[in-house]
Amino acid sequence: MSTLFRPLQLKSIEFRNRIVVSPMCQYSSKDGFANDWHLVHLGSRAVGGAGLILVEATGVSPEGRITPHDLGIWKDEHIPELRRIVSFMEAHGTVPGIQLAHAGRKASHHAPWEGGKALSDQEGAWPTVAPSALAFHEAEPTPVALDQEGIQKVISDFKAAAVRALSAGFKVVEIHAAHGYLLHSFYSPLSNQRQDAYGGSFDNRIRLLLEVTAAVQEVWPQNYPLFVRISASDWTEGGWTAEDSVSLAKVLMGKGVDLIDCSSGGNVPRAKIPVGPGYQVQFAQKVKAEAGILTGAVGMITTPQEAEDIIANGQADMVFLAREFLRDPYFPLRAAKKLGAEIEWPVQYQRAQD
Ligand SMILES: Cc1cc2nc3c(=O)[nH]c(=O)nc-3n(C[C@H](O)[C@H](O)[C@H](O)COP(=O)(O)O)c2cc1C
Repeated sequence: MSTLFRPLQLKSIEFRNRIVVSPMCQYSSKDGFANDWHLVHLGSRAVGGAGLILVEATGVSPEGRITPHDLGIWKDEHIPELRRIVSFMEAHGTVPGIQLAHAGRKASHHAPWEGGKALSDQEGAWPTVAPSALAFHEAEPTPVALDQEGIQKVISDFKAAAVRALSAGFKVVEIHAAHGYLLHSFYSPLSNQRQDAYGGSFDNRIRLLLEVTAAVQEVWPQNYPLFVRISASDWTEGGWTAEDSVSLAKVLMGKGVDLIDCSSGGNVPRAKIPVGPGYQVQFAQKVKAEAGILTGAVGMITTPQEAEDIIANGQADMVFLAREFLRDPYFPLRAAKKLGAEIEWPVQYQRAQD
């Protein structure tokens, strides 16, 4: 019996399997609006059998976008198009989730296929914000260190975004606190040199993430799951460590977070990351074992057997796949066949099942 296809119940939500479409920026929006691209892209993966689809990093404010083309959720007008996609995903048995994001000092850039560099003033650059006035690297503009008022705005932006996510029908919210974006840059000592209540000690550096989490909790239904994606290691001397992640996960669990999605890196350009099959699974395993919270494993998980083993061995509770889902939106249908799990195909596709 495949464990990958064993349903998972989190609060009032049941996931038909443990396979998650990891959030993936599409850089295909105008003024933050979802459109037909998102419907077809996300809809195909719902038809493909995923248990949960996490919609890409979605800007809680215009200045929190990585590029001008990011998906957004900073105004009510964004809701109807998202609702249409949510309905489609739910109609096909997938739980709809969304990742709420603020890019911090990594905002105001070109899309990867435009070279990925920081926008120039002529190209419409906007001022970026961070815990401290430290650029990501020499060729990047220096961000503005957030003051108290700016911090309060970030917190209320996440809260308002969660209200809109609920109104659009999402059942899972994931707070993006990884990859060097704003919340990660606060908890990592490599990017946070503040001397106030948001910098210095571990407790101070995680404060913003905790305040954002608490603000989201105030409006997110208690019977819907809340996930947090972290970078479980900076892979850099003097940076955030896996042990820090365990401590953070314990605090987040105490605050009612349901699952820690364990990614890594992204906060400093010089990190040496031993990328290879399943290279971040160790973090999901450690956080799960030592903090006692549910975890998600992500990073170069590409085969049904790898995904199955992670769940069967108790290393994580869900597996998040990104690029493999770009190669094959029907990965779960294929995985079920390979692992001998009985699942229902969409009726329209059943003639191809055997
Ligand atoms: C096209 C693309 C867009 C991505 N966008 C996001 C994003 O919006 N939020 C996020 O947390 N990670 C993002 N990632 C990272 C993935 O979610 C995932 O963590 C990473 O690609 C490793 O998984 P993989 O080896 O299965 O691709 C993106 C990755 C890709 C390939």
